[in-house]
Amino acid sequence: MKILVATEKPFAPVAVKQIREVIDAAGYELALLENYKSVQELFTAVSDAEAMIVRSDMVTSDVLNAAKKLKIVVRAGAGYDNLDLPACTAHKVVAMNTPGQNSNAVAELAFEMMLYQARNGFSGKSGVELRGKTIGIHAFGNVGRYVAEIAKGFGMKIYGYDPFVKDEVLKAAGVTVCKSPEELYSKCQYVSVHIPANDKTKKSIGYALLKSMPKDAVLVNTARKEVIDEEGLLKIFEERKDFTYLSDVEPDCKAVFEEKYKGRFIFTAKKMGAQTEEANINAGVAAARQIVDYFKTGNEKFKVNK
Ligand code: 3PG
Repeated sequence: MKILVATEKPFAPVAVKQIREVIDAAGYELALLENYKSVQELFTAVSDAEAMIVRSDMVTSDVLNAAKKLKIVVRAGAGYDNLDLPACTAHKVVAMNTPGQNSNAVAELAFEMMLYQARNGFSGKSGVELRGKTIGIHAFGNVGRYVAEIAKGFGMKIYGYDPFVKDEVLKAAGVTVCKSPEELYSKCQYVSVHIPANDKTKKSIGYALLKSMPKDAVLVNTARKEVIDEEGLLKIFEERKDFTYLSDVEPDCKAVFEEKYKGRFIFTAKKMGAQTEEANINAGVAAARQIVDYFKTGNEKFKVNK
């Protein structure tokens, strides 16, 4: 039984080692495809695999067509917008994610970007502090909860909005509940985005919400670039000199930022929120265990396709 780990952005070696241990112990074989440069390499590698672990790698119907023996694909991470779920179902492939396993790493990156920006990139120029500032957590899932925990340590005033989570959960975490995104954005100088990218959320954060943010607004996006309406974002940057955008993944309009808004943005080199040894171990090992468990017992707890 061949389990392919196909990661264009590789896991830390220590995580690969632990994934291998889980697969060896189950009596399966691990195949590793890291840093691949063309989808053709993925087609070849997956052609005889029964299971596959991916990160943000695109699992399209073309990949599934090439994967003649595939029974299960696990996205080692939270967001599964890279998996074509209807195509997985059509190919009778179970699709899963590993929710929560890399969330702390993503939450920490949100603060790392906020702190770096607050101190002007450690340039020696006088900066600002986070204590006493307002932070809005846009969606209170696994990452949002860690953001609240860290924000508390920094002495920030924490607000949250999530229509799918009970008010009591936010309140118990010391978060003041907002009833709409409008309320959240208009109250908070910092807003940290943690919504998934889907048909309802794509381009949902745009001009009107951003315009309502208080003075010296900072939008922090460790979610997906697709949830931002970049036209609205650029309009805000044109209108407001006090606006900052910190994003884990460069936007499509990166060139405009580089030309016109130097010092008012951070874009990471590659999506690196989950790029820590700990997150790689947690998500990678969870993915391997879920595959073994699926083959041995049929457990479909983390299945995301119908
Ligand atoms: C996720 O959805 O889990 C994160 O965005 C991490 O993605 P990555 O595995 O590509 O770093």
